[in-house]
Amino acid sequence: MTTNEYLDQHRGRFESELVEFLSIPSISTDASASADVARCADWLADHLRGVGMPHVEVIPTEGHPIVYAERCDAGQGAPTVLFYGHYDVQPVDPIDLWTDPPFSPVIRDAKVYARGATDDKGQVFLHIKAIEALLAVEGRLPVNVKLLIEGEEEIGSPNLAPFVRQNADKLACDAVLVSDTSMFAPGQPSIVYSLRGLAYMEINVQGPNRDLHSGSYGGAVQNPLNALATIISKLKDEYGRVQVEGFYDDVQPLTDLERTELAALGHSDERLKADVNVSTLFGEDGYSSIERLGARPTLDVNGFLGGFTGEGAKTVLPARAMAKVSMRLVPHQRHDDIANKFISYVKSIAPPGVTVDVQDLHGADPVLVNRNSAAMHAAVQALEETFGTKCRFTREGGSIPVVLLFDQVLHVPTVLMGFGLNNENAHSPDEHFDLSNFHIGMKAVSRYYHLLAQTGV
Ligand code: BES
Ligand code: ZN
Repeated sequence: MTTNEYLDQHRGRFESELVEFLSIPSISTDASASADVARCADWLADHLRGVGMPHVEVIPTEGHPIVYAERCDAGQGAPTVLFYGHYDVQPVDPIDLWTDPPFSPVIRDAKVYARGATDDKGQVFLHIKAIEALLAVEGRLPVNVKLLIEGEEEIGSPNLAPFVRQNADKLACDAVLVSDTSMFAPGQPSIVYSLRGLAYMEINVQGPNRDLHSGSYGGAVQNPLNALATIISKLKDEYGRVQVEGFYDDVQPLTDLERTELAALGHSDERLKADVNVSTLFGEDGYSSIERLGARPTLDVNGFLGGFTGEGAKTVLPARAMAKVSMRLVPHQRHDDIANKFISYVKSIAPPGVTVDVQDLHGADPVLVNRNSAAMHAAVQALEETFGTKCRFTREGGSIPVVLLFDQVLHVPTVLMGFGLNNENAHSPDEHFDLSNFHIGMKAVSRYYHLLAQTGV
């Protein structure tokens, strides 16, 4: 039997096991869910032992545990691959908008619906199944494999970053492999060569010492919600340009070659509008949507809280207001630098009569990976052979905090080989993962390991 035949034969079982993995609510942002996050880490570790990983650890951190596994018996001269993924997931709200409960996975139209299906449990799990198949059929892995699967990616990897710095020897490898991104389109194998970074900020505005009657005090006392709205209105102009001073200082202009290449991907604004049901798109003047999404930085208000929001009307001048604002960054902006610039700018535009506090909640630095490494060439070949069509290079708008750190600490090439699709509702209700990509992904990964063993890195 070939490895691919094994993968075909066990499709049903792989799907049932994925459903089990997805049913554990590993929401990392939610402190009350930490027992479930830990249970998910243990489940994963047991599963890794079950498929034949001889060395598996659940490593405690100050936050959620890291799952680490390795099998390094591929023989002399065999390269070592470090796979990175995450088993934590985003919160589920607004829960009412889910067709089925987020942790009761359902398979419909060859897609599995659950929180974490595409981001990132489904993608992590296909790697484990590729390893299972290789070991079951061939008795060994063609390359040494280390797996690093964390439980805090969705909160900015606060404990993984120090772990990577302190464990450079343990994590030593010839290439890093990540599956936490999307393919450009169904059936279109893609490798992401750039990820945006992130600076996630919280603004708290304090006005009077208590909520006030808006008749007795309104007009003479600054309203923190009005003040916050004023601040927010000055963050971006009508042309979609971020107004934070110095925001664009380190942004590299797109080269003509990149612009041509991105345009050739065949992105459709009509399809994007239909997908999200808006009549017009909006973004920074002078750039196409595909450029705005992957190659230009931006700023968004993620949440806005304050005052009376119940039924009916209440005449009140609230004491406090809060907003969460995030900025997506591109090479060579730096999260720390942008966070500082944001804090100074917001303070400089704060209206009188309120106290404004700005906090840097978390962030990630943007990434640009080498497209010409041997590991990359093998990845392109594995994808093209498996999907039977040409592989494309894309830039993604999302962030994966530790990817830049791998480069800085391990000094090896990274390959971002994703099997999700951008319309699979990551971070949103009815998240799902196309099972055809789950299965073909396993074949691509096992082919990749063979190619790496043949060609080296
Ligand atoms: N899988 C995503 C990253 C991603 C998103 C890649 C979209 C490609 C396209 C990842 O799990 C994620 O959501 N990251 C967060 C990071 C943040 C919380 C530090 C993000 O981008 O919001
Ligand atoms: Zn993810």
